[in-house]
Amino acid sequence: MATRQELFILLSMLGSVCALYKQWVPDTNFENSTNWDKGSVPCGSDQVVFPASGKVAVYVAASHTLSGMSLPVDGEFILASGAGFSIREGQDPGCGAGGTIRFRDPDSLKWFDPALWKGASSLDHLQTGPYLFFVHEESLPCQHDDVVFRDGSSFRVDVSARESSISVKSISVLGKKFSDNYDFSQYASSQLGKLQFHGSSSVTVSGSACHDSTGCECGNSGNHDRICSSVKCSQLDCKKPLYPVGHCCEVCGAIVTIHFSDSFDIESYRQRVQHLFLGLSKYKSIRMALSKVSKPQKLMRVIPYGTTQEIQVVLLDEDTGPQAGKLAEALAQDIVRDINSQSFHLGIDSAEYQASSGASSGDASGISGGAVAGIILGILAVIAFLALFVVLYRRGRIRVPNLPSLSSWRKGSEPGDLGGPLDHGFDNPMFEKLNSLPEIPGLYGTESLNSITLTHSGVHFVNPVYDETDFNA
Ligand SMILES: *[C@@H]1O[C@H](CO)[C@@H](O)[C@H](O)[C@H]1NC(C)=O
Repeated sequence: MATRQELFILLSMLGSVCALYKQWVPDTNFENSTNWDKGSVPCGSDQVVFPASGKVAVYVAASHTLSGMSLPVDGEFILASGAGFSIREGQDPGCGAGGTIRFRDPDSLKWFDPALWKGASSLDHLQTGPYLFFVHEESLPCQHDDVVFRDGSSFRVDVSARESSISVKSISVLGKKFSDNYDFSQYASSQLGKLQFHGSSSVTVSGSACHDSTGCECGNSGNHDRICSSVKCSQLDCKKPLYPVGHCCEVCGAIVTIHFSDSFDIESYRQRVQHLFLGLSKYKSIRMALSKVSKPQKLMRVIPYGTTQEIQVVLLDEDTGPQAGKLAEALAQDIVRDINSQSFHLGIDSAEYQASSGASSGDASGISGGAVAGIILGILAVIAFLALFVVLYRRGRIRVPNLPSLSSWRKGSEPGDLGGPLDHGFDNPMFEKLNSLPEIPGLYGTESLNSITLTHSGVHFVNPVYDETDFNA
């Protein structure tokens, strides 16, 4: 047992650096006014109604006096010590006239709703902040996160997912932490567990932290549509909004993409950015989401052929209007500059940024992805043209004029002598085959029989009907 404990301590030391905690925000507590349809906790003159078919475990922290209560068929009260209910005859002077107050149905609250979670880097920070900013997919628990349901509270969460189970590192419920899947599945199948976790999937606890110092992917991309179905995107002011991987909405700001090597350490890099930049007063309003993501690789940004892992740094500022995203862009430039001067020590191969103003690191140095795509497109266009040329040539629809000699070139530059070198072109025996060509009369009717000619001055489309055309015009 001791060795197992030592191993656990060792592992948690290794893993502790990248531990992230995600806490479920809503609760099903009797004392939380948001759980009641009138927006206030019932008092002595009130009749309390739990919907008969509602399935819920309600946490009660204190003792309450009510004028009546109807209970659900399938429900549970979790009573803290000293908590309870008593029924009062007549009105409570401190409570007013009283009325019927209903408990809100928590059935619609979903695990995959990013708005219902908050994340922090430690348990203490979960209580007091600072809370961390994430792209939507990572706002809710990732596969290596510790999930916390607040102590002294109950909840009801729909864990329906695309897969049959959702895997996380650990789950804390009512102050008890489950890191072992056997223990947790026992709890989840108990009467109380079934009231708290419902839906078509289950939650499993792996106990395993992320052991890759370059970071671990969140693992929620398979449920992207489910996650985004509850997200409303806001109107944006910037010119070229960006779409971060794992996010549901376009944003104004900047994204730094980091291509890392094996010696990269995501947590020390996060601390470096925090320390060097986010701590500065001018960058105080910036929200940063830094994580490892998989990006589909696309040939010429269209044809997918695989995925690569990158570190994505999403930077958002709070500015709106024409200034939207400008501060984030300035920070992105600082970050890329820092990486370029220190890339070897940081374990970073390269980094670039894109900003919603349209600017990107490619503008300042090197060739941007756009330029590369442009060059590739250009090369392909040339290849396509050559292929077309060969095909047309073989079919005899094209004539290659003899290259003019230097003297005729000079002559050729005089408008009157244009026919000289070009006439040689018509001597090409291929020309004769033209007559045998119109096998596809519909497409190339003899009337408009155009063909392509190469001359010393470039490419021209020549209609043989008009032999005297000024080709150099
Ligand atoms: C009451 O519930 C709301 C939303 O479900 C939550 O934001 C709030 O923190 C809860 N209040 C307390 C005191 O826990």
